[in-house]
Amino acid sequence: MGPPERALLVGVFAKNGGRRGWNGESSLEELALLASTAGAQVVGTVFQKLERPDPAYYIGQGKLQEIIALRQRQPYDLVIFDEELSPSQQRNLERALKVKVIDRTALILDIFAQHARTREGRLQVELAQHEYLLPRLRGQWAHLERLGGGIGTRGPGETQLETDRRLIYRRIQRLRQELEEVRRHRALHRRRRAREGLPVVSLVGYTNAGKSTLMSALSGADAFTADQLFATLDPLTRRVRLPSGGFFLLTDTVGFIQKLPPQLVAAFRATLEELEEADLLLHVIDITHPNAAEQAQTVEETLAELGLSDRPRIEVLNKVDRLSRHDGRPIEGLEELAGLLPEEAPESGRALLVSALKGWGIPELLAAIETALQERGRLPSAARGRA
Ligand code: GTP
Repeated sequence: MGPPERALLVGVFAKNGGRRGWNGESSLEELALLASTAGAQVVGTVFQKLERPDPAYYIGQGKLQEIIALRQRQPYDLVIFDEELSPSQQRNLERALKVKVIDRTALILDIFAQHARTREGRLQVELAQHEYLLPRLRGQWAHLERLGGGIGTRGPGETQLETDRRLIYRRIQRLRQELEEVRRHRALHRRRRAREGLPVVSLVGYTNAGKSTLMSALSGADAFTADQLFATLDPLTRRVRLPSGGFFLLTDTVGFIQKLPPQLVAAFRATLEELEEADLLLHVIDITHPNAAEQAQTVEETLAELGLSDRPRIEVLNKVDRLSRHDGRPIEGLEELAGLLPEEAPESGRALLVSALKGWGIPELLAAIETALQERGRLPSAARGRA
């Protein structure tokens, strides 16, 4: 592998404030984390306040010139836009900037491609990539025009384009068929699992909230964890023992993220279909993240889209070991933290403080899971014996 690609990030502030709570800056911080997850080195960021995007270049001419000039002082090989670019905007920008230009969608697709582990995950990502590529095919021929100056290249270029387009269509069809096959298998698995009768608990949460870490803490096994976005792409299932001796199945899901590209929402709906069978959702929230509330909101919106608003859930407020006292001393344990908090309001519902990393609050969480499953009538009577 060569040296990492040097990336310049471009963020856009809506003049009227933009999305609730998310400002351009925090969105761009997330883009930076996405970029480094994809293996790029972020060498700079540029902002622009915009009423509405320019149809040809997304950003204004002044900003475009600024980015071109910046390259003298701060060399970059790649420019990443925080918003979705239309195929023609992307093409125009590549011509003007003379480097590769990608958008948030392409970046996330790239990460997904690197992280998909199962056959289904790989098929889904490849499908999403082809669907993303199709309307952008013309852009792939920009280099021909540059080399040949247009004359003479247009004919063969277009013919090649038609062939490519047909090939991609055919590939998309094949991928859909294969996915269909894989899903049939999975539905079978699911039915078999349902016959086993074990209750199902699913982890949901914003990417990097700590789902995989919590999965290991609960099941005592090593789920894959990494300080990267989307370390978990494919649903993973473990059997977990309850304090009473009963068992439940714990499944992990793909991390949620704001502005998830539409191709991916479709592609990963299947992964999230696993949530259909969940008796209980554990919504993992990194309470130390400055955008924790907005992240939780994004997860709730996605759950609502999937028709899961009413599914019983426990909010797991994770990473409390990272909190510190007013005087800056770190918190030593849950008991100390509880002493610092205002008394819990009775209507605060089910929210538990945990540190998945340190194992704090895990017994309490298991007890809460047990109670919730009992209330739903999902634990066999043997497991219900304990008061
Ligand atoms: P995705 O796969 O992106 O959905 O992430 P995830 O939600 O599965 O998060 P993961 O478990 O991979 O954790 C992300 C990072 O947060 C890792 O570096 C973890 O070590 C860290 N982390 C998770 N839980 C805790 C915690 O309780 N305390 C601290 N300090 N760090 C944690």
